[in-house]
Amino acid sequence: MMEERIAQLKADAQKALNGAVENLADLDSIRVHYLGKKGEITSLLRSMKDVAKEDRPAIGKIVNEARSQLEDLIAAKKVELQKRELEDRINNEKIDVTLPGRESITGHLHPLTLTEKRIKNIFLSMGFTVEEGPEIEQDYFNFEALNLPKDHPARDMQDSFYITDEILMRSQTSPVQARTMQSHDPNSPIRMIAPGRVYRRDDYDATHSPMFTQVEGLVIDKGITFGDLKGTLESFLQQIFNPNVKVRFRPSFFPFTEPSAEVDISCVMCHGKGCNVCKGTGWLEILGAGMVHPHVLEMSGYDPKKVSGYAFGMGVERIAMLSYGISDLRLLYDNDVRFIRQFEGLHH
Ligand code: DAH
Repeated sequence: MMEERIAQLKADAQKALNGAVENLADLDSIRVHYLGKKGEITSLLRSMKDVAKEDRPAIGKIVNEARSQLEDLIAAKKVELQKRELEDRINNEKIDVTLPGRESITGHLHPLTLTEKRIKNIFLSMGFTVEEGPEIEQDYFNFEALNLPKDHPARDMQDSFYITDEILMRSQTSPVQARTMQSHDPNSPIRMIAPGRVYRRDDYDATHSPMFTQVEGLVIDKGITFGDLKGTLESFLQQIFNPNVKVRFRPSFFPFTEPSAEVDISCVMCHGKGCNVCKGTGWLEILGAGMVHPHVLEMSGYDPKKVSGYAFGMGVERIAMLSYGISDLRLLYDNDVRFIRQFEGLHH
């Protein structure tokens, strides 16, 4: 009787294991059915008490064998199922490694930013500070504090964009001179540059733009001379262009400096021989400069009997165009990547 039941159980279990066991959950319900607390094998073991005492060792042996056989079969099936599940996952979650990767494009500095940084670094190395002023400026700072009263004819050269009669888009970075002086202790020296955008009513062509970039400079201290101005600018220009560049000062006029000069360098394209960039002259006009007008010092609280100073102003676009051989100013603003990309990897 007992032997038959065991044989039948084994056969049933075998059949169940060979049948539709799809996953580990199915397998576990088979295990519970036979080996669980209320399972078939377990209840067989419990019914051993009904077996005749002398038969118990033999029957018990058969039941225990059946149990361990079943355990082995289930363990083997479990390994098989796990393997199959892994294979399924490998097949289904496959990624196509032959797809080309996506390139992430990193940006880089714009040639104007590069040029501004190069200018800044040279002046920082000479002990200058970097000051800032607003692009929307008061007429007072843009003109009056720089010795250009309301009816001054030199205002015509810098016709700008007015917001009200008293407020305009600054036409030059020179107002930062007056702002720096007025926020500064008149007894301590100033040695600063002020880079930034300026605005003028102008054409938009190969050499003009209604918006462009300047760097202003201002030095005030006891005993500052025109010699200091010449030495500083010559050193700057030789560092920004090349050490062999020749520098020339021509007398000029600016309302806020006296004397005033326009500063030329020997042409960086033809080295002074004469070419179409320097229009055959061998010289390139590069910046304006001069000794700060006593009236300008006075208006901003400095005593021209005690201190003197020099100032200068340059166009960043022009320096960028000459440094990199750019023939049309508009290329700097169009942001055509075919142009901009050529400056990738350049450092200041
Ligand atoms: N602000 C002048 C301009 O935009 C440039 C300039 C000339 C600035 C002489 C100066 C200077 O500080 O001393 O044309």
